[in-house]
Amino acid sequence: MTETTYVGAVDQGTTGTRFIVFDHSGQVVANAYETHEQIYPEPGWVEHDPMEIWENTKTVITQALGQAGISPEQLEAIGVTNQRETTLLWNADSGKPVHNAIVWQDRRTTERVEELEENGMVETIREKTGLEADAYFSATKAEWLLENADPIKMERSRPDDIRDRAERGDVLFGTIDSWLIYNLTGNHITEVTNASRTMLYNIHDLEWDDDLLSEFDISREMLPEVRPSSDDDTYGSTHPEGFLEAEIPVAGALGDQQAALFGQTCFDAGDAKNTYGTGSFFLMNTGNEAVESDHGLLTTIGFQRSGEPVQYALEGSIFITGAAVEWLEDVSLIDNPAQTAELARSVDSTDGVYVVPAFTGLGAPHWDQRARGTIVGMTRGTKKEHIVRATLESIAYQTRDVAEAMEADSGIKMRSLKVDGGAVKNNYLCQLQSDIIGSEIVRPVVDETTALGSAYAAGLAVNYWDDVDSLRNNWQVDREFDPEMDSDTADARYGRWQDAVDRSLGWAND
Ligand code: G3P
Repeated sequence: MTETTYVGAVDQGTTGTRFIVFDHSGQVVANAYETHEQIYPEPGWVEHDPMEIWENTKTVITQALGQAGISPEQLEAIGVTNQRETTLLWNADSGKPVHNAIVWQDRRTTERVEELEENGMVETIREKTGLEADAYFSATKAEWLLENADPIKMERSRPDDIRDRAERGDVLFGTIDSWLIYNLTGNHITEVTNASRTMLYNIHDLEWDDDLLSEFDISREMLPEVRPSSDDDTYGSTHPEGFLEAEIPVAGALGDQQAALFGQTCFDAGDAKNTYGTGSFFLMNTGNEAVESDHGLLTTIGFQRSGEPVQYALEGSIFITGAAVEWLEDVSLIDNPAQTAELARSVDSTDGVYVVPAFTGLGAPHWDQRARGTIVGMTRGTKKEHIVRATLESIAYQTRDVAEAMEADSGIKMRSLKVDGGAVKNNYLCQLQSDIIGSEIVRPVVDETTALGSAYAAGLAVNYWDDVDSLRNNWQVDREFDPEMDSDTADARYGRWQDAVDRSLGWAND
């Protein structure tokens, strides 16, 4: 009897690491998860320990396989998906990081970005990379690390020679995909959607960009080789004497938001999805054309299969959505996220309260690094239920901000939006989202679409799945939500939301 085979996916996110094993119908057969420490060395700074992330990756792979009684040899391939932009440098000799990773949410390089604005670099960056100049992306984080990494952690190096070592390729740069692929296979590789988030990669020429490398003083020697998201040549294999004691090809990788686009089978121009995690990321496939945004969206790479041209996407990156619910918990307004729906339903409205959770500035479509969290409209009668409801509404309003920009840029009227991510289990939020954007919301059966997308990318590369049509057949609707609020009410509330956003802009200037 031939043994059943599977594809596994590492989903390394901002708050934790997951390994999921999928069968041929795209169903989850094993799933293990570990959180890691969020390190806040100073206000506005966020770091992760890359060694902890790698240790957790090994743990969740081993746990998930053990749980389901699956041997490593039953995995035909492994895919990787990851929090994007988070940046680290490591020592090529020892494989050890020279500093904690700087997380995508980190704002320590805000002033450097303002300098870029003053030097007229914004337009060049937008043209070459499709990105807004912002501390969100990897370039200024890598530059900061080259200037400030703790030399004590650099074995056998003098305090002043990190740049020299980088120029010789002895210190390597990577985003989290690259770090995991390096540890899994020993090869220094990144994939194209992750490269497109570094602010160093030219998304039209599909190359690291010399002008940008020189602006940030980053040498080519330290950069990984850029490969397709689904790579028939594979990125390499796990080592037979490594933790899995088996040689499994690592054949696909995607930044987590692009992975969700792939997992939601948004393979054609016009297909769109919104993922609700720490933040929310709304992506629309624009096919082989890199559509330039006039409304504050990013142009980014959606995915690339071996031997095929890249598919581009427009992206609305919202920094804080699920993290706003975490904040409600931190300040003891709720005991757990599941309570939010009940509390929000217990009042008829927010009673005029608006919460703008601009904790780390605002991303699309405003791109204001100095915006800060704001609550407006409170009276002596404001209750915690109103604030909880207004926080959930802020998720839906921010999505409308980017949905409107998406429609204006693409000229396509959105009728239906596929959603995924932890928060879409909340029916209240899904209904609210449908009401506020005035279109249908579609939730799929498999909500782990991020991991699924990278499993699909890896599985296509090793012919576990034949083509994208078989993947489309795997996709099934769990529930659809249609607008119940009349559009005048939705528009009026949205107008007040925009007023509230205006009040949060530029706050940290003072
Ligand atoms: O761009 C940041 C994004 O990739 C983070 O996603 O799900 O880890 O919060 P998540």
